[in-house]
Amino acid sequence: MVRAHDIHKAFNGTAVLQGISLDVAEGELVSLIGPSGCGKSTFLRCLNLLEIPDAGSVSVAGIGIDRQRGRWSRADEEQAHRLRAGVGMVFQGFNLFAHRTVLDNVMLAPRVVQRLPREQAQTRARALLDKVGLADMAARYPATLSGGQQQRAAIARALASEPRVMLYDEPTSALDPELTDEVLEVMRQLDRDGMTQIVVTHEMRFARAVSDRIAFMQQGRIVEIATPAALFAAPAHADTRRFLKHFL
Ligand SMILES: Nc1ncnc2c1ncn2[C@@H]1O[C@H](COP(=O)(O)OP(=O)(O)OP(=O)(O)O)[C@@H](O)[C@H]1O
Ligand SMILES: [Mg+2]
Repeated sequence: MVRAHDIHKAFNGTAVLQGISLDVAEGELVSLIGPSGCGKSTFLRCLNLLEIPDAGSVSVAGIGIDRQRGRWSRADEEQAHRLRAGVGMVFQGFNLFAHRTVLDNVMLAPRVVQRLPREQAQTRARALLDKVGLADMAARYPATLSGGQQQRAAIARALASEPRVMLYDEPTSALDPELTDEVLEVMRQLDRDGMTQIVVTHEMRFARAVSDRIAFMQQGRIVEIATPAALFAAPAHADTRRFLKHFL
């Protein structure tokens, strides 16, 4: 479902991603962990081409771009647009539109991007709000919701475009512990439904319990990728062991 091959990215001459490859199968949940600044967010942003890799290839659900051949063209931009349509992204800071109700937030992309008729968009939005446990909050404004509720609304909004893959960048790190679980539970439910998900997280408990595989990143590379059982029981790499020790 997701293929990233030999991704490189530098900012102002500093190499941030140094040849990352990752394949994620349909329905898999893969967690990305690693120290601050190792390139997790940059990699995630490369997967939906919010950042354009300097080199390497990315494909989502069979729609791909290949940067080996250099210049970013008009055709690449159109292909990137198609790729992004298949990806939902959830950030740490929710990013809901403050002046729109929760329902409108979830309806917006289907209305504007997919040009869905109002009634259909609304039916879809209400079903998604129900799914994330916010059926009663449809008419509220984001500021009147708890952080956990806002993040669940943000997940519903991302799902409204019917993505093939969901990407999350530390979706719970702005939340109090008691609100974290309700967000993680939504992701768990999506996993049970068969959604393909890639999650940058510091929640080791969650990563361990729910991931099919965990990738440990360091200095712009994936050092090790394994099942949680294998990674926690016997990390192959000394740096992985050192990193995980902080959490155990
Ligand atoms: N737009 C940018 N311009 C310049 N440097 C950037 C940019 N985005 C990221 N970087 C740099 O790239 C490196 C990796 O950043 P990134 O945000 O991907 O790390 P991270 O692993 O997500 O860290 P954290 O766990 O703190 O979120 C950092 O040194 C950061 O300063
Ligand atoms: Mg980050």
